[in-house]
Amino acid sequence: MDIQELHAQNREAWDAAAIAYEKQIEADIEFLRRGGKNFCPPEFSFLDGLEDWCNRAIHLQCAGGTDTLSLWNHGAHEVVGVDISERMIGCGRRKSAALNAPATWHACDVLNTPNELDGTADLVYTGRGALCWVHDLDAWAAVVHRLLKPGGRLYIYEGHPVTWVWDEETDHLKLSEEWGDYFHKGQLSSEGWPDTYMTEEELGGKAQPTKYETHRTVAQLINPILGAGLQLDRLEEHPDEFYDAFPNLPTEIKQRLPNTISLLISKP
Ligand SMILES: C[S@@+](CC[C@H](N)C(=O)[O-])C[C@H]1O[C@@H](n2cnc3c(N)ncnc32)[C@H](O)[C@@H]1O
Repeated sequence: MDIQELHAQNREAWDAAAIAYEKQIEADIEFLRRGGKNFCPPEFSFLDGLEDWCNRAIHLQCAGGTDTLSLWNHGAHEVVGVDISERMIGCGRRKSAALNAPATWHACDVLNTPNELDGTADLVYTGRGALCWVHDLDAWAAVVHRLLKPGGRLYIYEGHPVTWVWDEETDHLKLSEEWGDYFHKGQLSSEGWPDTYMTEEELGGKAQPTKYETHRTVAQLINPILGAGLQLDRLEEHPDEFYDAFPNLPTEIKQRLPNTISLLISKP
């Protein structure tokens, strides 16, 4: 399959998963109306003072838009959400309409983010399970480069690449039979979602389409960004998780390893 086909297949899988996000719309609107910010603790220090420096934030792979609108609640003057799933973008539209928020939405492949946004972003934000679905990170980094203003920042908060290799079910650290090679090359396919992310009930009990991921090492994540002419300003590894990926593993063990990674990048 070429990249367009892989992304089209993933769009189908995420459109099907959007039903779980649609069920949350009213609760998310209430959360946002109360000033809620759906970020993990490590993200706050990287998103500090948005009010002072962030006119436009572009959220790539924004899913149902709650995190996008959290950027607005956190000080960004205007937000833009981009996602390949029309249904996910529909969730974002309903939330911003209810909140009368300064938000615009684009349903498209991240690699085709509209050129009208070029050079307009003070902040590009992405992550929490986003980059594994993008099968050409060089092309993705070129998109980020064109979206950012000179001096603009990219902040990525992602699952740490080392978390891919562990068996998700066991109560001790064990390499996954299928995914347990940090240096695996090529795509990995699967159907359905971990229960701790989206339950079958939330998904309406329907069979889920096949989806494709590329797992990258830390170096494979960073080198395309540098190759696009962007600059790495800060990298941190965190014990924090963004969802409960290893529900049976004692916290005491989990916390000895990095679960997430922060990359703060700028356009010179
Ligand atoms: C795990 S979510 C992102 C994290 C988000 N914070 C959330 O609320 O779950 C991944 C998102 O990436 C989107 N996506 C996957 N492939 C994409 C692509 N090629 N272009 C744009 N969006 C894509 C999916 O539709 C999905 O909404």
